[in-house]
Amino acid sequence: MTAKPSSHYRRIQLLLPLALFSVLILGTVRVFLDNLKNNQLHLHWRGLSRRSFRVPINVSEDEIIKDGCNVFEGKWIWDNESYPLYREETCPFLVKQTTCLRNGRPDSFYQNWRWQPNSCNLPKFNALKFLEMLRDKRLMFVGDSIQRGMFESMVCLVQSAIPDGMKSLTRVPPRKIFAIEEFNATIEYYWAPFIVESISDHATNHTVLKRLVKLDSVAKHSKEWEGVDILIFESYVWWMHKPQINATYGSEDNIQEYNATTAYRLALETWANWIESSINPKTQKIFFATISPTHLWSWEWKPGSDGNCFTETHPIEGSYWGTGSNLEIMGIVKEIVGKLKANVRLLNITQLSEFRKDGHTSVFGERKGKLLTKEQRSDPRNYADCIHWCLPGVPDSWNEILYALLLQDYQVPRSPLSEAKTPVP
Ligand SMILES: *[C@@H]1O[C@H](CO)[C@@H](O)[C@H](O)[C@H]1NC(C)=O
Ligand SMILES: *[C@@H]1O[C@H](CO)[C@@H](O)[C@H](O)[C@H]1NC(C)=O
Ligand SMILES: *[C@@H]1O[C@H](CO)[C@@H](O)[C@H](O)[C@H]1NC(C)=O
Ligand SMILES: *[C@@H]1O[C@H](CO)[C@@H](O)[C@H](O)[C@H]1NC(C)=O
Ligand SMILES: *[C@@H]1O[C@H](CO)[C@@H](O)[C@H](O)[C@H]1NC(C)=O
Ligand SMILES: *[C@@H]1O[C@H](CO)[C@@H](O)[C@H](O)[C@H]1NC(C)=O
Ligand SMILES: *[C@@H]1O[C@H](CO)[C@@H](O)[C@H](O)[C@H]1NC(C)=O
Repeated sequence: MTAKPSSHYRRIQLLLPLALFSVLILGTVRVFLDNLKNNQLHLHWRGLSRRSFRVPINVSEDEIIKDGCNVFEGKWIWDNESYPLYREETCPFLVKQTTCLRNGRPDSFYQNWRWQPNSCNLPKFNALKFLEMLRDKRLMFVGDSIQRGMFESMVCLVQSAIPDGMKSLTRVPPRKIFAIEEFNATIEYYWAPFIVESISDHATNHTVLKRLVKLDSVAKHSKEWEGVDILIFESYVWWMHKPQINATYGSEDNIQEYNATTAYRLALETWANWIESSINPKTQKIFFATISPTHLWSWEWKPGSDGNCFTETHPIEGSYWGTGSNLEIMGIVKEIVGKLKANVRLLNITQLSEFRKDGHTSVFGERKGKLLTKEQRSDPRNYADCIHWCLPGVPDSWNEILYALLLQDYQVPRSPLSEAKTPVP
């Protein structure tokens, strides 16, 4: 990470609120309009033949990530043969917000990059193997609209392996549930933009400008997380709306302005206490995704310019760290997760995503639940969304890494018999 002059940081503090406000408000209104099938959950069992014969999840030699390989350090490689891993038109579960090509984006280069760690290779994403790992399990992404993108990416990565009629997407606010009947498995999304409780917790109708966070309360959410087999948490951008944030700690009548970073630390400690008291490390796996970077000011990677992520078509080469990714928050996450007795793994996706100034929805997304108009598109200074990501795109790589890490847990060879009898790791 490169340190940046503090004058830049001050400028961020002035500019970030405006940018975030305009973008966040649509992330939420949009939830209304998601083209969900309002199916009921079909969790009754049909795939009997599969159930009686469990394919062992074996990890081949070239899928093993050697000790000492940091999968978060590496570079983006042009690979238009293998990427994208799916296409907009083959994934019916994508929402309009992320389908940049369909929304008029002229280039598709952003779909063709593969994340290549420096000292090892990532295993190729295998949807059936992943579903086998999810058998009889729930996987849940918890966080804000960035996390919803990661959820949708994961749904798209696996859905083509499941026949029609055996998969469904249901909305049970604040959850979205993708159910895979044949595997008795779900991939879920849970809206909790601050992780802890706040007045922004209603999945479809919440204020964006007015914020009030209950730094010491997580119970309303966490009762919905209990027993979930794989949990992936994320929260950042909502905290950074202003340098301070209104919050309560203890008495709900005692509202105070906290520095955003102080508030973040307190909230994460509340979350950490829940983890320590409620997680069963034998049956549950927990991940925490670090900051998803924004690309709001092109002067950061192209000195002298005055734009944003609009028209960017290629990743940044060489070292880069944007000032929007708060180093203090990175430190807080590292420290609190590091102190936990429970094994919470970091998805340290910040640096790798920093390079991807080309990956955002820009003017090829939505505002207030509607695709941008032609007039709005011609005004990228005010309308480009440099926070959310196009799909297929960068969040697919986050999921490939998640898959790689989960797969490592199955390295010890086991027979189908012992697989069926012992709890799956
Ligand atoms: C892995 O599993 C597949 C399918 O069950 C099997 O054909 C293959 O031989 C196994 N490989 C190893 C290395 O155990
Ligand atoms: C893939 O990329 C190479 C190098 O840029 C280019 O020559 C080729 O036409 C591309 N192939 C496809 C199918 O887009
Ligand atoms: C489906 O999975 C749940 C755990 O998520 C488990 O409790 C239940 O027994 C499973 N159902 C069947 C029919 O295996
Ligand atoms: C959204 O919430 C506000 C304030 O609580 C309320 O006045 C409004 O009626 C709600 N809108 C919808 C569509 O539920
Ligand atoms: C906190 O709330 C008060 C009262 O509503 C408001 O005047 C103030 O601007 C808020 N502070 C922040 C940082 O939003
Ligand atoms: C809050 O932030 C300001 C400006 O960065 C700093 O001067 C102040 O000491 C901080 N207060 C606390 C309680 O951390
Ligand atoms: C995340 O990765 C970056 C780049 O590889 C590294 O500098 C940083 O220390 C890592 N952060 C944590 C919390 O592990």
